[in-house]
Amino acid sequence: MSTAQQSPTEAVRRYQLFIDGKWVDAESGKTFTTPNPATGEPLAEVAEADAADIDKAVAAARRAFEGKWSRLSARDRGRLLFKLAGLVESHAKELAALETADNGKPIRETTLFDLPQVAENFEYFAGAATKIEGETIPVPGQMFNYTLREPLGVCGQIIPWNFPLLMAAWKLAPALAAGNTVVLKPAEQTPVTALELGKLIQEAGFPDGVVNIVPGYGETAGAALAAHKDIDKIAFTGSTEVGKRIAHAAADNLTKVSLELGGKAPNIVFADANIEQAVSGAMMGIFYNQGQVCCAGSRVFLHERIKDEFLDRFKERAGKVKVGDPMEQTTLMGPQVSEEQLNRITGYVDVAREEGATILAGGGRPDLEGNLQKGFFFQPTIFSEVHNKMRVAQEEIFGPVASVITFSDEEDLIQQANETIYGLSAGIWTQDITRAHRFARAIKAGTIWINTFNVMNAASPFGGYKQSGYGREMGRHALELYTQVKSVWVDLSGKPMGWYGK
Ligand code: NAI
Ligand code: MG
Repeated sequence: MSTAQQSPTEAVRRYQLFIDGKWVDAESGKTFTTPNPATGEPLAEVAEADAADIDKAVAAARRAFEGKWSRLSARDRGRLLFKLAGLVESHAKELAALETADNGKPIRETTLFDLPQVAENFEYFAGAATKIEGETIPVPGQMFNYTLREPLGVCGQIIPWNFPLLMAAWKLAPALAAGNTVVLKPAEQTPVTALELGKLIQEAGFPDGVVNIVPGYGETAGAALAAHKDIDKIAFTGSTEVGKRIAHAAADNLTKVSLELGGKAPNIVFADANIEQAVSGAMMGIFYNQGQVCCAGSRVFLHERIKDEFLDRFKERAGKVKVGDPMEQTTLMGPQVSEEQLNRITGYVDVAREEGATILAGGGRPDLEGNLQKGFFFQPTIFSEVHNKMRVAQEEIFGPVASVITFSDEEDLIQQANETIYGLSAGIWTQDITRAHRFARAIKAGTIWINTFNVMNAASPFGGYKQSGYGREMGRHALELYTQVKSVWVDLSGKPMGWYGK
């Protein structure tokens, strides 16, 4: 396996846009470079889509939707998705390595989490394709009423860089299972694995135009897709700020929207928690994927009584996290995805200091060797003495930075935990089952983890309360985002309608 140190000798990869089953240059002829964040060196040169390419891709998706794809049986759609899941599995090793090279997340994560989850999502929705059903409704009179659950049509999907291939799978799998066609715009920071997936989609035998993959910048390609008059739905995962812009653009055409946005999740440790388990959960909550997780447990609420013991262990464990070359099997933290994200995190360290928080661990860049010195690395960081009203407790930092807040009273805790514009997830650590479930109800968030964190599965819904977005991805709920209901009435009497007499 290659390492970050060897990357200068590797050729820069080249990718075109995937439109209508063909690999094509951008209309403008423009390209952009995606670097390897571990070294800053170029990984790939990628065709840069903008409005003209989005138009082409939407037109291809429209033709595919009106054409062959709509005549395919649910079973055949399912079979294609199963085939794709199998291809992902057989290419998992190289896809994991490319994901690590493009995003910086450790190879251990891409191998053990991202890739298996990608395959699982395609498999789950492959099976779901044949289970999308209508209903018969008991209406009065000599009438038969039933519903059809139909696809929406052409779906625009804009995804972020933190789980590049997995976000593509979350979006594509339910859309295709339900019979839609897709124009997918990967994030400009991490376009590589989505384009590799395009090759597998071709190999699996999806008809041309069913999936179109058009990497480009948000302000150009993304905005053109969100505002496009001929899409039926736009799905977005990313910042709350851009999510609002997407919703505005969609409102003009009344395009259906689903949004999966930011978070500032409370990860709550009660005094009766198993401390070792809770410390491991706090680590998982904030250091996983370099903290670039929308459901990250970025606000760690500690009961006063266990504060010292917990923080001693948390600090010690944070200091032991191996930060470095993400291609090494033992690395637990790689670089942040980009210099922009790194600067954002560094900025929040200054904010924390100004606000009077204590930097208990990390807070700076690690000392690394060789060409990793140019990588966008940051240390696992803990701010203690944080108050919930501070900016570091309210704003999404999206880095390996935990803000620790202490509490003593349960009512006050509930209020503080919910005092955020976000509501994506929460963690609860306690041995008391009644308290655990009481809090599961009290916290306003789309996912609650009790004595665990960051666990997900293709069968279980995921999405946000409040400004963390709307709609639920994965599970049966995802099919609701990609289907619409048609009500069909049939007169069984065979008589003229009596209303106007004869
Ligand atoms: P972003 O929200 O700008 O980017 C996400 C996706 O949206 C990318 O594909 C991007 O090209 C696209 N995009 C950007 N502007 C757009 C526009 N005007 N119209 C349509 N599409 C657009 O996120 P960014 O700038 O990469 O990161 C900023 C912050 O956003 C992060 O620090 C983090 O707090 C948050 N974020 C949250 C994510 C999540 O999973 N909820 C994922 C990525 C970022
Ligand atoms: Mg942005």
